[in-house]
Amino acid sequence: MIERDGYLPSSYGESFADVYDDWYADVSDVDATVAMLAAIADGRPVLELGIGTGRLAIPLAADGTTVVGVDASPAMLDVLGNKPGAAAIIAIEADMASLGRAPGLADHGPFSAVFAAFNTFFNLPTGDEQSACLQGCHSLLADDGRLVIEGFVPPAGGLTDGGISVRDVTAAAAVLTVSKHDANDQLIRGHHIEMRSGGNTMRPWIIHYRTPEQLDASAVATGFALEHRWADWHRTPFDPAVHDVHVTVYRKNSPA
Ligand SMILES: C[S@@+](CC[C@H](N)C(=O)[O-])C[C@H]1O[C@@H](n2cnc3c(N)ncnc32)[C@H](O)[C@@H]1O
Repeated sequence: MIERDGYLPSSYGESFADVYDDWYADVSDVDATVAMLAAIADGRPVLELGIGTGRLAIPLAADGTTVVGVDASPAMLDVLGNKPGAAAIIAIEADMASLGRAPGLADHGPFSAVFAAFNTFFNLPTGDEQSACLQGCHSLLADDGRLVIEGFVPPAGGLTDGGISVRDVTAAAAVLTVSKHDANDQLIRGHHIEMRSGGNTMRPWIIHYRTPEQLDASAVATGFALEHRWADWHRTPFDPAVHDVHVTVYRKNSPA
């Protein structure tokens, strides 16, 4: 059992919503993501786990795919809701570890694809919550549905114990990243700490990382089969010796 220290499913989003689009607009190729997901969706609805501010969902919906999203953070969903194009998206406040309890979600399925981009799946801090999420995805997918997960690949030599690094320095603020790694639990806890003359803002995060092989084992145990592992949303073939991110496509291989 990990110590939660008051960290809730909504904690990440509530602490990052005001800076998320400034800090993370360019973390991945949005056009390539939209192209791959639209091809998988093939005109049917998709579900995004941790839809956030709609960085991916808004362009995907604008491209013609019906997008439903869940997010545990009201602040993230507020940012999304105030953007042009948000009206096309069905956004539901819910914990992705308990998709069966997300109000009205099943009414929008079955989904052709469920996706979790940019390490969002690793935001679930325990293996039990990740397994529950996979089970929920399996239940909501059509029989030919796909689960797509983008995540970083833990380095073969292991991660460092953590530390402090400088994220940004301006005349008005310094942003430090402080993290601590627990190799046994495959857990990294961190804060981005924004220091200003008026006071500090703490932005906490937790990552329960998994190797691609561990993800595969959990997915197979849930009733998925590995279909593709790419290095990015352009379908670059994944080479574990070279790439530190993967985009993995699982297909459902047993009925819900
Ligand atoms: C890294 S952001 C990704 C946002 C968006 N998908 C993107 O790619 O820009 C992770 C998102 O997942 C949400 N999140 C984290 N834990 C969650 C949980 N247990 N259930 C639902 N949403 C969660 C956060 O609020 C945040 O919006």
